[in-house]
Amino acid sequence: MAHKKTESKSAAQPQLTGVVAEFETPDAVLHAAELVRDAGYTRWDVHTPFPVHGIDEAMGIRPTILPWIVAFMAVSGFTGALLLQYLANAVFYPFIISGKPTFAIEPCLPVCFEVAVLLSAFGAFFGMLGLNGLPRHANDLFRAAGFTRATSDRFFIAIDAADRKFNEAESAGFLEKLGGTHVQKLFSDPAGDQFPQVLHTLALISACIAITPPVIVAARRVTDQPFPRLHLIQDMDMQVKKKTQKTTTLFADGRIMRPAINGTVPRGGLMTDTRKFAGLESTSGLMMVADAPAAPAAAVVDPAVAAAEREKRPWVKTVPVPVTLDVLKRGQERYRIYCSACHGLGGEGDGLVSLRAVELEQPTWTRPVSLVSEGIVKQPVGQIFDTVTNGVRRMAGYGDQISVEDRWAIVAYVKALQRSRVAPIADVPVELLEKLKAEAAAAPPVGGAAAPAVAPAGAGGLGASPAPAAK
Ligand code: HEC
Repeated sequence: MAHKKTESKSAAQPQLTGVVAEFETPDAVLHAAELVRDAGYTRWDVHTPFPVHGIDEAMGIRPTILPWIVAFMAVSGFTGALLLQYLANAVFYPFIISGKPTFAIEPCLPVCFEVAVLLSAFGAFFGMLGLNGLPRHANDLFRAAGFTRATSDRFFIAIDAADRKFNEAESAGFLEKLGGTHVQKLFSDPAGDQFPQVLHTLALISACIAITPPVIVAARRVTDQPFPRLHLIQDMDMQVKKKTQKTTTLFADGRIMRPAINGTVPRGGLMTDTRKFAGLESTSGLMMVADAPAAPAAAVVDPAVAAAEREKRPWVKTVPVPVTLDVLKRGQERYRIYCSACHGLGGEGDGLVSLRAVELEQPTWTRPVSLVSEGIVKQPVGQIFDTVTNGVRRMAGYGDQISVEDRWAIVAYVKALQRSRVAPIADVPVELLEKLKAEAAAAPPVGGAAAPAVAPAGAGGLGASPAPAAK
């Protein structure tokens, strides 16, 4: 494709920009093109009203380098995206999320692919424009007499003055020798080549309009205004409402968040079954926490009095939910999660947390009670349930974390643990007994929980549950 490199600078002096010759038939132009090619011209072009077969070879047009541009853009897009993600994820912000490595190729691929496609599209579009010397709003050829026939019935060959072989006198003669008629010299027209005045004005006006909003915004940002900002899109931004943790004059105490009214029960939360939910036969005569008016800070109850009162409560003596092997297994699992850290896997109060605290001689550490000690063995299950729910003395309550059913399952498992220390040999199922005997014979003799002691009476409280099965 031939096109001029630079616009002429002087308005007065039109410059020679090329020569053009007319041909009457496709064959004539094809033949002429071959000769122009062979003469060594490189910046020239053929203009025909329709595609002429073989004109590409006749002109010696080499394949376009556009694919290489596109390939280059694709590769740089891919590697650029990969590099950016690598730097961001593995170098600048190496956060470990869910234990995953900071960088892996797989999640980066979609982004790499997208950027590669985007850049190659840019490469194809702008590369094509660039290679063709576009955009271009004027061409000297359009002023050549009769050139418009290039769209109907005439064929033209134009040689650019920028061609290294171009010579003002020879090139025109050369085209004539090839059979070209109406050979014309092309001159630049400095006035006509200028960008159309209308477009100039339009561009100027749109530029002014375009920068107006940002200018207004910038002015508003740096100056003080006596009136509030325009808030065009409301989007429920302004509402007559109070947010959490804020104050109000509506209520006497000034709080916008209202405490639940005494006796409020959430739907489905009516816990009338005191045996199940409190571990008590009845709550009559007892002041339950929920009903208690906020106690003044001074009225602290003597701990000894409170403990004595607690002992006397009508605790349930059997687990008020069905105890099955599954419940015990669930209890074992929950116990190991919630209790064993302090009370130990076997309930002796030798959990790892406690052992560590004792080893460090921490002065404020209270040793967890042994759950298989006589004092706890004698406790009714309701009391143990209450300990798990509300805590006792230095032990925190787990009522908020463990559901009622799971708390009873834990209690049942604690009873099973206690029972396992005192169960008679007759409690062990026969087939298990054989296995245990075999294991005991194989293992070296060690004193421990595995050897069942002679049973003192009253280990239970669990009723008919198959306690040893849990161990
Ligand atoms: C963070 C350690 C810790 C955990 C976890 C823990 N306890 Fe305790 N528990 C203690 C301590 C300490 C005591 C003794 C409190 C005291 O004497 O002040 C205690 C006391 C007890 C008592 C005796 C209550 C009484 O009346 O004397 C029982 C029963 C008990 N825990 C059961 C459990 C159960 C069941 C769990 C699991 C849900 C559990 N504990 C979880 C530390 C813990």
